[in-house]
Amino acid sequence: MKVKVGINGYGTIGKRVAYAVSKQDDMKLTGVTKTKPDFEAYRAGELGIPVYAASEEFLPRFEKAGFEVAGTLEDLLEKVDVIVDATPGGMGARNKELYEAHGVKAVFQGGEKASVAEVSFVAQANYESALGKDYVRVVSCNTTGLTRTLNAIKDYIDYVYAVMIRRAADPNDIRRGPVNAIKPSVEVPSHHGPDVQTILPINIETSAFIVPTTLMHVHSVMVELRKPLTREDVIDIFEDTTRVLLFEEGRGFSSTAQLIEFARDLHREWNNLYEIAVWKESINVRGKRLFYIQAVHQESDVVPENIDAIRAMFELADKWGSIRKTNKSLGILK
Ligand SMILES: NC(=O)c1ccc[n+]([C@@H]2O[C@H](COP(=O)([O-])OP(=O)(O)OC[C@H]3O[C@@H](n4cnc5c(N)ncnc54)[C@H](OP(=O)(O)O)[C@@H]3O)[C@@H](O)[C@H]2O)c1
Repeated sequence: MKVKVGINGYGTIGKRVAYAVSKQDDMKLTGVTKTKPDFEAYRAGELGIPVYAASEEFLPRFEKAGFEVAGTLEDLLEKVDVIVDATPGGMGARNKELYEAHGVKAVFQGGEKASVAEVSFVAQANYESALGKDYVRVVSCNTTGLTRTLNAIKDYIDYVYAVMIRRAADPNDIRRGPVNAIKPSVEVPSHHGPDVQTILPINIETSAFIVPTTLMHVHSVMVELRKPLTREDVIDIFEDTTRVLLFEEGRGFSSTAQLIEFARDLHREWNNLYEIAVWKESINVRGKRLFYIQAVHQESDVVPENIDAIRAMFELADKWGSIRKTNKSLGILK
């Protein structure tokens, strides 16, 4: 029996999760929702994915264009076991009532508050806590990135301070655009630290800046260690950590541009870089302090987490069984 999955919100995250679901042999992509019959809706149709209107109010748009939808979100909810809500931040909480009314489990995204779900989720850190749950929140791209590397060294952490340099907009987003400025988040510490704490019980504070790029986020991480750790230990630990890859500046990885080019060279769909990229040369221990710099592909690092969240919610596999299966299906390098 395959788990029947619907996607509400076929945008940056939704279409990547839809693709990932279609690669799983224990899940079936039942349909996606759109608010309008744009090129993404037509492309979904060409791929054989049933398209539903996000609600009845959007039906006239499709009718006017002669685009035949399979129904509305409510019809889709009648056919699925779980809905992945990838609508704009905050909308998921408003949709939850509808999911409850239809008795459908739901995976929410990081734009929602933690309270929307029973548990916040990063597979390698807390897969078990989502077992059998009805509502799970996959945390944001930044929180996923921080959690993947910090979880690997959590036993050594006394305190973490991370500075996050965030992309201004996604490549497809013309509403925000990369403005010619550096915009500090004046909320210091920023909300990212408490968000990591929804998964990892560590002492962490963060601050954040938005810069004019669309490619990736970069994090400069400083860890105060509670017990000794060498640079070589950290390299070994990260080399053994799934969904984390080490990249060397000495091999030409000087910036996020080369990381994206690497994903293109792998012929990854949408140049997804699901793995968190840590610059090997940046890993350094001075006394009781560890430093490293990492990059996060905001459009894709949360995609494997959505797949593992669904497996946990339906108890289809144990933690490593699910992670390995997802990794293999998406070509994740380790
Ligand atoms: N992009 C990132 O970097 C990123 C990373 C991690 C997590 N997230 C989180 O993932 C979630 C989705 O973000 P996104 O970047 O994928 O957003 P997005 O690209 O703007 O896509 C949002 C989707 O929601 C649909 N939508 C808009 N209004 C709707 C409505 N009233 N009812 C139902 N659907 C509606 C849109 O449909 P139409 O296209 O038909 O208008 C679009 O397909 C957010 O919680 C965000 O915080 C985003």
